[in-house]
Amino acid sequence: MTDHTPASSARRIVLGVAGGIAAYKACELLRRLTEAGHEVTVVPTAAALQFVGETTWAALSGRPVRTEVFADAEQVSHVRLGQQADLVVVAPATADLLARAATGRADDLLTNVLLTARNTVLMAPAMHTEMWQHPATVANVATLRERGVVVLDPAAGRLTGADSGPGRLPEAADIAAVAESLLAEPDHAVRAAAGDLRGRRITISAGGTREALDPVRFLGNASSGRMGVALARAAALRGAQVRLVTAHLEVAVPSGVAEVVPVSSTADLAAAMRTAQSDSDILVMAAAVADFTPGAANQTKIKKSGDEGLSMELVQTTDVLRTLVTERTRDDQLIIGFAAETPTAEHSLRELGHAKLARKGCDLLVLNDVSGGGVFGAPDNELLLIDAQGEDGPWTGPKEALAHRVWDRVVALADKAH
Ligand code: CTP
Repeated sequence: MTDHTPASSARRIVLGVAGGIAAYKACELLRRLTEAGHEVTVVPTAAALQFVGETTWAALSGRPVRTEVFADAEQVSHVRLGQQADLVVVAPATADLLARAATGRADDLLTNVLLTARNTVLMAPAMHTEMWQHPATVANVATLRERGVVVLDPAAGRLTGADSGPGRLPEAADIAAVAESLLAEPDHAVRAAAGDLRGRRITISAGGTREALDPVRFLGNASSGRMGVALARAAALRGAQVRLVTAHLEVAVPSGVAEVVPVSSTADLAAAMRTAQSDSDILVMAAAVADFTPGAANQTKIKKSGDEGLSMELVQTTDVLRTLVTERTRDDQLIIGFAAETPTAEHSLRELGHAKLARKGCDLLVLNDVSGGGVFGAPDNELLLIDAQGEDGPWTGPKEALAHRVWDRVVALADKAH
């Protein structure tokens, strides 16, 4: 008998695929989930097989593929698959699938799986804009969210044919990242489904700024932008309208982000954040900001002169976070700072964090230990959250899951501020 128990970090996932043109993108999602080590059973609807055939799903998943309840009836797969799944992901979820799920139909294997699922269900809808915005679909999505199903908002962009608008399936990488965060912290699915950040306008800075030395050289830092991007993805998942101010990211912008503002230097970042301050409920400074700049960069490339070294005067940049705090005009606007610290024998991480919270005057400080530089670009992190009420953490885990910890704390602070 084959042992179907996945390795400890690997989980059982059912990937439901409904019948839309975006079904081909589910192949990429399937590949990502299996490469992460998960055991994925694909359950396409009959209509999905019109777009991508059973052989493709079977070959990519390495597992049998069934569509109907009556296949392999002796294994009772219509009940077992749902009950045993750590996560059910439906991508794409069509208008028809959402309607059948919302009304509790059980007319094929996928809808049976949805009715027997004990753990998180994540749906990634894809359809034409008119169908997405139709009151019937809007009501079905609301019903599913009320029942705890995490329904992603579709991305906006080019749809099949010449039309464009909201309705595109989010990128496979985005769906996979959300799936991982829900597997790591299933509790967050409840918050995501309830949309506890819905209606909030949030601006997040991410990445690392660069100060030009000359036309080809710059002073930069090792930030990849992963933590800021994880915060943006998690906030969008929980319903927020997210603006991401990007300073040289090494990772892609998540599809749920409403607006992207690219910046390069600390001065650019300061200008973008000050503009954002007027219409944001929450501002998050996750970017790693250069503290020093040459001020005026050389307009021509710096040349070597003999054997001499180079000395250059650097001036301090604006403290963007501090400026946001001092220029805040609304009492209910929350400002979140990050702190990268290297503790010493004299000063512990906590002491450094409390001192920085006092210095910056922000509402919450997300603190991490950067000794050895290990956190930069890494998928995992350890965070300690510090605010006037006390400390929360330390929390360890994937940045995607830690991002939800940060929002849990922010939601608690925002509820207090109102
Ligand atoms: N920050 C900022 N503007 C700067 C420097 C930092 O807004 N010129 C923000 C960062 O985005 C982060 C917080 O301030 O949210 C703390 O950043 P960090 O680099 O840890 O601290 P610094 O202010 O640079 O202080 P120091 O390096 O002296 O510890």
